Order: sequence, then C-alpha cells, then structure tokens
Amino acid sequence: MNGHELGHRPYGYASFAFDLTPHLRYGDEANVLAVRLTPEEHSSRWYPGAGIYRNVWLDVTGPAHVAEWGTYITTPEVSDAKATVSVKTEVQNQLEIETGIVLRSSVLDESGKLVSKTSSEVTQISPGATRTIAEALTIAKPQRWDMDHPYLYTLVSEVLDGNRVLDKYSSPFGVRTIAFDREKGFLLNGKTHKLHGVCLHHDLGALGAAVNRRATERQLEIMKTSGVKAIRTSHNPPSPELLEYCDRLGLVVMDESFDMWRIAKVPNGYSKYFDPWSERDLRDMVRRDRNHPSIIMWSIGNEIPEQKSADGWKEAKRLTDFFHEEDPTRPTTSAFNNWDDAIRNHLADNVDVPGFNYKPMRYEQIMKEHPNWVIYGSETASCVSSRGVYHLPLAKYEKHPSHQISSYDIIAPPWAYCPDVEFTYQDRFPNVLGEFVWTGFDYIGEPTPYFDWGGSSDQDWPARSSYFGMVDLAGFPKDRYFLYQSQWTTKPMVHILPHWNWEGREGQNIPVMAYTNADEVELFLNGKSLGKKKRFSESVEIPVGPNVSEDKKFTTKYRLLWQVPYEPGTLKAVAYSASKQVAEQEIRTAGAPTKIVLVPDRKVIHADGDDLSFVTVRIEDKDGNLCPLADNLVHFTVTGAGEIAAVDNGNAATVEPFHADHRTAFNGLALLIVRSRSQAGKIHVAAIGTGLAQGEAEIRTELASAKAR
Ligand code: GAL
Repeated sequence: MNGHELGHRPYGYASFAFDLTPHLRYGDEANVLAVRLTPEEHSSRWYPGAGIYRNVWLDVTGPAHVAEWGTYITTPEVSDAKATVSVKTEVQNQLEIETGIVLRSSVLDESGKLVSKTSSEVTQISPGATRTIAEALTIAKPQRWDMDHPYLYTLVSEVLDGNRVLDKYSSPFGVRTIAFDREKGFLLNGKTHKLHGVCLHHDLGALGAAVNRRATERQLEIMKTSGVKAIRTSHNPPSPELLEYCDRLGLVVMDESFDMWRIAKVPNGYSKYFDPWSERDLRDMVRRDRNHPSIIMWSIGNEIPEQKSADGWKEAKRLTDFFHEEDPTRPTTSAFNNWDDAIRNHLADNVDVPGFNYKPMRYEQIMKEHPNWVIYGSETASCVSSRGVYHLPLAKYEKHPSHQISSYDIIAPPWAYCPDVEFTYQDRFPNVLGEFVWTGFDYIGEPTPYFDWGGSSDQDWPARSSYFGMVDLAGFPKDRYFLYQSQWTTKPMVHILPHWNWEGREGQNIPVMAYTNADEVELFLNGKSLGKKKRFSESVEIPVGPNVSEDKKFTTKYRLLWQVPYEPGTLKAVAYSASKQVAEQEIRTAGAPTKIVLVPDRKVIHADGDDLSFVTVRIEDKDGNLCPLADNLVHFTVTGAGEIAAVDNGNAATVEPFHADHRTAFNGLALLIVRSRSQAGKIHVAAIGTGLAQGEAEIRTELASAKAR
C-alpha cells in the first residue's frame, strides 16, 4: 500500500485480509494499492486459474471493531422449546488509547425480526489489543436449519462506545445438530441422512475459475435436482459464496483443506509451502467458515502421499488438533486412497471419520476390523462419459479415436468403476455414511482417459477438460445424472438412453437402458409394447475392471435393459408404481436440423453487471425434436442491457474459445451465458446458423434491492 509491503499468501484458495489503515493517505492524495500475482505452472493437478479469482472487498470498520472472522457461533443445546446460542466475539481496539466498549449482540430471524439480544458489561481494551467476549443467547422455538428447510438466523454484533455504534458486523448462522453414529450414520437434527454427495472442483466451466455468484448457485441447483445432499469442496477451501449458497439451499458440506502436504504431487504444488503455511492456512479456513451450518466435516486432505509414511500419522494428528482447537463441534476427516497404508500408518486413527476413496469392496473388512469407526466413501465412481455420445457395441474400452467416451455409463479408469458398484455396497452396508461421487460437474483439466501424465505425446489433444461429471462442463445433464437421480430421489422419474437416430442400423439391436425410481417400466417402440421390467428384479451384466471383480463382470440391479431392433420413430418409456402410471419419457427419431431454439434459464436477472442468464441453445427439427447429432455452428448477437459472458457446448475435446460470439453445437446443444450490465433494460439475444431458422430470446434486467441478492 503506497509502497509498503503488507504481506503475501502463497495458497491461492486461502482468504486473507490486510489492514491498510497505517499506510493510507487522506484527503485528495491518491492511494496506490499494488498486487503482484505469481502463478506458477505445474502447481496443481487440475486447472487452478491464475489471477485474482475470488472477490476482494474493502472493509471499513470503526476504530474498535469486531475482528476479521471475529464471531464464533455454536448452538450447544437445541430442543423444540429453545436453542442456546453461544457466541464468542473478538473485539479489536485500534485506537491509541484504552477504550471501554459494550458489545451488543442481537439475533434476527429471516424476516429481520429481533428474536434475542444481549449486551456485555463495559469491557476495557488496551490500545492495539483484542479481547474475546463470551455470551449466551436463547432462541425460543427455534426453526431448525435442515436440508428441506435451510432456515438462517443472523447475529448482528455492535460495538458501542456509550451510545455511539463504532462497528456493526453480521454473521448468518443456523440452529441444527449433527452427529455421526456407527449404526445410524450421519444425523442432522436427529434424523439419518445417507450422504448423497458429489465432489466439485472450483471452476465454473466456460467462466473459468473466477467466482461468480449465479454460476455457483446454478451448479448447486443442478446438483440438487439429481438428489445431491452433500458437497465435497475437492480439494481446497471453497469460495465463501459456495458456502453461502450451500447454507441457503440446505446442502451439507465437507470442507477440504489440501491436496498434498509435504510430499509433492506436482512440481510447484502446495508442498512447497506446507511447512511454513499449513497451520495458518488451516486455522484461517476454520475461522472463516465455522459459522456455516452447512459444514459438517473438515477434511485434512485428499489422497495424501504421506499415507505411505510410517510417521504420516503425526502430521494427521497435528492438523486434526488445529481443527479441534478452532472448532470442537465438527469431526475431521481425510480421503484415503491407500486404505491399508492409511490404516497401518495410523492416519485413519487420527481423524474422527475416516473416508475411503474407491474402496467399496473393502467397507465390510474395514468395519469388521475397526468396530468403532464411522466410515464413508469420500470419493467414488469416477465413471467417465461424454453427453449424448453412444458407442456400439456395448463394451468397455480405454480410449476411443473420437476423444469422446460412450454415455452408456460403463467406462471408468482402472482405479474406478461405474455408479452401480458403489450403489451395491452402499445398500449392502447401510451404516456406511454415504458417498461423494467424482464428480458432480465436469471441470477444466484432468481429461482422463485422454490424459498422458508424462506429457510426451500429443495423441490425446485436444481433450482438455474432464469426462467425470454427471453433468457436462456447460451444465447439461449426462445420462449418469439420471442414474443418480433414480437412486437418490423419490419424485417419480424415468430416463431412457440412447437417442433414437440410428440411420443405417435398421433391424439391428440397439441396447436401450432405463433409469427409474418407479416400480416398473414398460417400453414402447412406435406404440408396440416391448414388455415391462421391474426395478431391482433385473440382472444386467456390465463390464468392470479387475479392481471390482476378478472376472471383470458385474451384475447390476440398478438399470433396466432392452435390446431393441432399430426402426425409426418413437421410443417411449412408461413408469408405474403400485400399478399406476407415474412418469414417462419419449424420444423420437429427429429429422434434419431446421431451427435454433433459445431457452434462458432465467428471463429476469439483476442489473448489477454480474448476474447471468444461462441460455440453452437447441438445434431442432421441424417438429421440435432435439437433433441429437447436430453440430451446427451458431453465431450469437446480444444487444441492449447485457453482453456475452462466455459460450460452451460441453464437448471436452475441443479448443474452441469460451470467449466468443459463436459456438458449434455438441450433440444438439450449446450454451450461451449472458451477463447483465448495471443499467436496467432489455437484453435481446439472437442466434443464427446456416440453413437454420433464427433463434431469439428476450431477457429483462432489473435493479435489485440489496436484499433481493
Ligand atoms: C482421485 C483424485 C481426484 C481425481 C480422481 C480422478 O484419485 O483424488 O482428484 O484425480 O482421482 O479419478
């Protein structure tokens, strides 16, 4: 600041603050804040972003004020009648004289109504010092924060000098209880919830790593509709915005610190900074995040190579101790991939809830040998697929010349497996807490299996983003999303795959799969029944790797399969429960592409220069069917109160730019992300492509009241 060095932070995911006050110039003189960023290559196993990718705030406080992340709110006693809210508030005096302050703490409900308040005695704080003031408040008949009722209270802390309010600080929090029980699993407010979780990396697809509120919210909303209840912030502390939305949407969170400790996974990774910075980064992470009701576990790391070190447990203990000191209310965990090493070298003993990556086949043994442990699948599946791509015959392969991966949901790298394997073991051992699927969304980087670690050949070019997501990089669900939905939700659904455009294969058998949560499904081709199949009663054989089964075969009861001799027309699935029709899905053989249809996810957005409308671009035939193979080039014009933020199509193997006014469709779909400007008005979107009728959409932008956001 004005030539004075304030400090530096090497971990790009860490939040931090510096006090500018001593170096500020007042009046007309200009202040110069200089920030130098030194991103290094090979610093991460995924795309970490470069530049400033989290929000930066100028925080103006009073001279005596609540310290940065200075409130710690817990609810040690919760009943229907009342909740005790325990608050520890750090107040910092930056005056040059001793000051006597009063701390006034008020709890507001969601409507802003005062439900509890208390004031401290006059507290003397010496110049430059910080004092922690402990208080207890009571909320009568508290509304619980829960998955389907994510109710938030706000603690407002005011620092008073006489009647003068020197500082005001707001901390949202929730009233809820959590428990981890060997028999009952994970309990939220006394009720068991299987952790239907996903791992998410921090990038926002075409928007890159820079955080955006709406893009974050949209990712979580899309996850929720597949039945996701839990998010793992793999493998780093998330943006504060992600936690804010998890609080609001009722998603529980495993907040993760590191992907490596001292032993490097990449040449310029966090291992270079672990010794000097790990304690600070970890304590800051907890202090920043611990009031979020969504957080249920702290992870000390992912697949840490020190699992193989005889004294790896010492580091696990050191980190667990920091978490316990900063927040005794939540357990620590770690995602162990070398399950036997992690156990032998006692890392697993030094977290509260050990997590195991890709080892459902070991759950039984681990639980038998460790009768007190509560365990779960901290990372599961890693099935790979490309949206809308189907390769026949149904077979497991490593790579495909197209750089795509068939979406029949049977392909996974050697350490991994398709979702059905995990479902099988989770159902067999109901007291395993649940799983965190790798991954919810596709992400930039790690395009396994088109990923040559040595980097010596370019045969995998241009694969550049992952195939692991149940949703593609653009946010379009892949078939797998519906496979999870069929196991994780109860609102009746049926989903069939593949598409029904198999010109040239007339008369040949096409495998048709159905994913459903209903009792049974009947399939019709051009009105003719192909028979009913009962959920959980069919045995469908799918190929797996030797990590799952020696004979490389696996029988799943989680899908229904028909072999259907291809004839163009309409394929329809009707789902029944208790003999009543509860859901249906129909796919038709599409004709030639004739038009572009634009479908904005929101037609009214905030005029704040940051809000987004995600516009799905569909290539349709004359009857409105999606053309499932269309790859037309589409050009966009956005005029009025908005602009193009980015474009995408979910294709993991392309180097078409994200920042452009055009995009090819990938299997019939593309995405246009439109951003508002700061004036209210109308945004007009037009899309053209050779031989296609133009698509149009209108989006309105409105000035948001501060509250609406
Ligand atoms: C895991 C790892 C993840 C990701 C995944 C891909 O072993 O923890 O970060 O690399 O494999 O399957």
